[in-house]
Amino acid sequence: MGFYATQVLPRLIDAALGPKATGPRRARVCAGLHGRVVEVGFGSGWNVPYYPAEVESVAAVEPADVAWTLATERVAASPARIERVGLDGARLPLDDASCDTALSTWTMCTIPDIESALGELCRVLKAGGTLHFIEHGLAPDEDVKVQRLQRRLDPLQQRLFGGCHVTRRIADLITHAGFEMCELDVFYEPKGPKFMSADSLGVAVRP
Ligand SMILES: C[S@@+](CC[C@H](N)C(=O)[O-])C[C@H]1O[C@@H](n2cnc3c(N)ncnc32)[C@H](O)[C@@H]1O
Repeated sequence: MGFYATQVLPRLIDAALGPKATGPRRARVCAGLHGRVVEVGFGSGWNVPYYPAEVESVAAVEPADVAWTLATERVAASPARIERVGLDGARLPLDDASCDTALSTWTMCTIPDIESALGELCRVLKAGGTLHFIEHGLAPDEDVKVQRLQRRLDPLQQRLFGGCHVTRRIADLITHAGFEMCELDVFYEPKGPKFMSADSLGVAVRP
C-alpha cells in the first residue's frame, strides 16, 4: 500500500467522520452495546465516547496503524478496556461465541471480503448477541437515478477511498450472513452527495 492509503487516507477519514458530522448517529448506533464488544473497522476511535457504561471490553479490529495511533487518547480515556486484536474483519482471532455485541460504523463498504467478515461476526457473537451498524450503501430501489450514479462512480470511489464501495446492499448482506434484522432505518445523511450518503442504521441479532 502506498503513502496515500497508509498515511493520508486515515487522517482524512478521521477529520471527515468526527463528532460534529456524525455524533448523533454514533450515539444511536452504540445504544445497547454491552459486555464484550467486537468493533470492526475501529478507525480512529470516534465511537469510543459513545460506548454505554455497560461495555466492559472491546476487541478492536483495524488495519490502519495511523488510525489506531490517532485513537490513542480516546482509547486511554475509555472506562472500557480496549485492545487491538486484529487487522482484518474477515479473519477474527476470537473464539466462537465469545462476544456479547458487535459494532460496525461505515466499514462494511470497505472490507474486501464482506461476506466472510459478516460470517465471522456471526461466529464470534453469542446466540442472541446483537450487531449494531450504520453503513452507507446502495440507495433505496425507488431512487433509480441515484443507484445509476452510484454504479457509474463506484470504481472511482474505490480508487479514491481505499476500496470503499457505494453499491453494497447492506441489509441484504447482513441477513444473508445469518443475522435476523431487528431494527432498520434507511435514510440519507443530511449533508454530502446522495450517492455517498445512503445510510442503513440498525440492529441485527445472531439467532
Ligand atoms: C470509513 S472508515 C470508518 C472508521 C470508523 N468505523 C468510524 O466510524 O470512524 C473505514 C474503516 O475500515 C477499515 N478497514 C478497511 N479494511 C478493513 C478490513 N478488512 N477489516 C477491518 N477494517 C477494515 C479502514 O482502515 C477504516 O478505518
